[in-house]
Amino acid sequence: MEGRLDFSGYQNEIYLGGLGGEKPGLPISYADLEAKAREVMTPEAFGYVAGGAGSEDTMRQNLEAFRRWRIVPRMLRDVSDRDLSTEILGLAMPAPVMLAPVGVLGIVHGDGELAVARAASSLGIPFVLSTAASNTMEAVAEAAGVGPRWFQLYWPNDQEIAASFVSRAEDAGYSAIVVTLDVPQLAWRPRDLQGAFLPFLTGEGIANYLGDPAFRAQLDEPPDENPTGAVLKWVSVFPHPTLTWERLSWLRERTSLPILLKGVLHPDDARAAIETGVNGIIVSNHGGRQVDGAIATLDALPAVVEAAGDLPVLLDSGVRTGADAVKAIALGARAVLLGRPYAFGLGVGGEDGVRHVLRSFLAELELTMALSGLTRLSEIDRSILEPSP
Ligand SMILES: Cc1cc2nc3c(=O)[nH]c(=O)nc-3n(C[C@H](O)[C@H](O)[C@H](O)COP(=O)(O)O)c2cc1C
Repeated sequence: MEGRLDFSGYQNEIYLGGLGGEKPGLPISYADLEAKAREVMTPEAFGYVAGGAGSEDTMRQNLEAFRRWRIVPRMLRDVSDRDLSTEILGLAMPAPVMLAPVGVLGIVHGDGELAVARAASSLGIPFVLSTAASNTMEAVAEAAGVGPRWFQLYWPNDQEIAASFVSRAEDAGYSAIVVTLDVPQLAWRPRDLQGAFLPFLTGEGIANYLGDPAFRAQLDEPPDENPTGAVLKWVSVFPHPTLTWERLSWLRERTSLPILLKGVLHPDDARAAIETGVNGIIVSNHGGRQVDGAIATLDALPAVVEAAGDLPVLLDSGVRTGADAVKAIALGARAVLLGRPYAFGLGVGGEDGVRHVLRSFLAELELTMALSGLTRLSEIDRSILEPSP
């Protein structure tokens, strides 16, 4: 267990570098990071990562919801000894931070998820690998080494392929299955539509399918001989609008790994989750990429936490700063997941870029806690917040 890491040491490292005339090669603020990513990424790839559903109203709300809560810092408490470590579903974590599943990272950087796995693993921060990755789950596991990892399942409408994904994830050392509920099919996304850009159709983001024995068994010819046939097969197996709560019992029986449901926003869905015997919930609106007008995740969090009983609740969508993480934890999240920030880090600086984003985030989280009088996650609760006047 890697507790008590000196995350804030990144601050000293940067200032000391400055004494030697060295400036950080990568942007520090999220706004600068996004601006740099816009400069270096192709317009299509940037639009794919930055964009959301419809008018992008939910994307904005995700950010604004964090502004509506204020931390009330407390003074003169010895904050020299800090420990951000936690454990969720048997996974020991140095901080309440993970990397969210972000698909198709091959369009962002040539090394895609391999670079992400290396960066996260070098810090002991868990990552969640997307079904829609540009590299297979086995290749990413190899890049991660002993690094902690969960697998995100886009539940295909074909049972054989779904079963195969789950058993491959088990074999490759992923220690939980995160079922994403909010994409029975893709939403209306104006930026991608304007560019008529859907990466999957050119074979990007479907490596887990192309490398899957059950998927390949359904092809007339292997993907390298008939790539179009493989893409068309993907088009037919990806959407799963018939999926219902009842089907979760099938998955529950298939794996002894913990199962988390990602995309829960309503307390009744949290109650339904308990009924199915899953182990955890991720409050998410997919970063505003699915239902434009959907509730911001921070606004949805308290009611879901209350309804979830003993199930751990995690949160993503709009987490940009250490302060955001503190607020989410204060409202009941056990951990937060970063999405776009690390995807932009990858675009701007590959593996080093992802590591830089993570180290910056962790340093800021530790400093926000300490400067607020908090040294342990157990000290963070609703009492440290006030609604913004
Ligand atoms: C480019 C991109 C691709 C994504 N791909 C997936 C995916 O394959 N599976 C999934 O469950 N979520 C996916 N997400 C959603 C993220 O897991 C996460 O919920 C979202 O990024 C959080 O919002 P934020 O990045 O604005 O903080 C994706 C998000 C982005 C930006």
